[in-house]
Amino acid sequence: MHAIIPVAGIGTRLRPHTFSHPKVLLNVAGKPILGHIIDKVIAEGVTSATIVVGHMSERIIEYVHSAYAAVTIDFVEQDEPLGLGHAIYTARHAVNTEPILIILGDTIFDVDLRPVLRKPVTALGVKAVEDPRRFGVAEVSDGVITRLVEKPEHPTSNLAVVGLYHIHNTPLLRSCLDEVVKRDIRTKGEYQLTDVLQMMIDRGERMEVFPVEGWYDCGKRETLLSTNRALLEKQSTSRPMKGVVINEPVYVAPTAVLHDCVIGPNTTVADGAEISEAVVRNSIIGSQARVSRVLVENSIIGNGALVKGSYKRLNVGDASELEFQ
Ligand code: G1P
Repeated sequence: MHAIIPVAGIGTRLRPHTFSHPKVLLNVAGKPILGHIIDKVIAEGVTSATIVVGHMSERIIEYVHSAYAAVTIDFVEQDEPLGLGHAIYTARHAVNTEPILIILGDTIFDVDLRPVLRKPVTALGVKAVEDPRRFGVAEVSDGVITRLVEKPEHPTSNLAVVGLYHIHNTPLLRSCLDEVVKRDIRTKGEYQLTDVLQMMIDRGERMEVFPVEGWYDCGKRETLLSTNRALLEKQSTSRPMKGVVINEPVYVAPTAVLHDCVIGPNTTVADGAEISEAVVRNSIIGSQARVSRVLVENSIIGNGALVKGSYKRLNVGDASELEFQ
């Protein structure tokens, strides 16, 4: 099975990290976001992929080539940010006659895709959410989608489209992609994959849904940290180190250098990071970052950054009250 993985987004909500990094290369639980996605699709039986790149494309290509040398992966550049529909249109050379999987490159999923990919029918991953207005929304009857709407102001269903699409009738996908772009059909200024899929439904494609419980967003600081926590809860990786207290779950890279510190819970420490005389919890510490003499929580520290505090010299009288913010 072939997969199309669009990763062209800029990740503005993750600035300042995305000033110097493509969003999909940010480290979560010891691996770039994109690494989690590629590992997942390989485990589900995907044998080749087309990655749609844009922002900082060379960095992404370099990472994929070095980490996934054995997998057949090609790249296409989306030169203008014209929407997800346009990203898939840019990769239309990969849309032939075989079924394909489209998986968004900035969201990590935990779902068994095998039964979905085996079934000869188009199916979209969905999850019931409290506020569906920032997603594509599926109206469903008897497990079949009757209507798809991109980010509706007044949603008539709470089923959000999570970003996992198994497309069976690929020739129809291809002609609907062409038509949406040719006729310049845009919603909220962009070519939407949701509109392409709605056009497929209008032309008779049966589109089913499948539930996705494990849906880990990486779009902003809080969600990157909660995704970090959720993934670490499934797998914690560390080693005993003298003078270091580890509160699982954590990921501590083998090349990280730690002394006199308390790490975790829910903390990733990337390659070559150095942490000393510090307490770090619920955080992601980038590679080669140096953290010393501080208490750090709910934080993302970029690669090579330096965070340094100091001990206080105090002379405090009895019954005084001192609070450091
Ligand atoms: C895209 C899709 C939307 C889907 C969402 C899932 O929106 O257009 O239908 O629900 O991904 O994350 P975006 O988040 O790129 O605005």
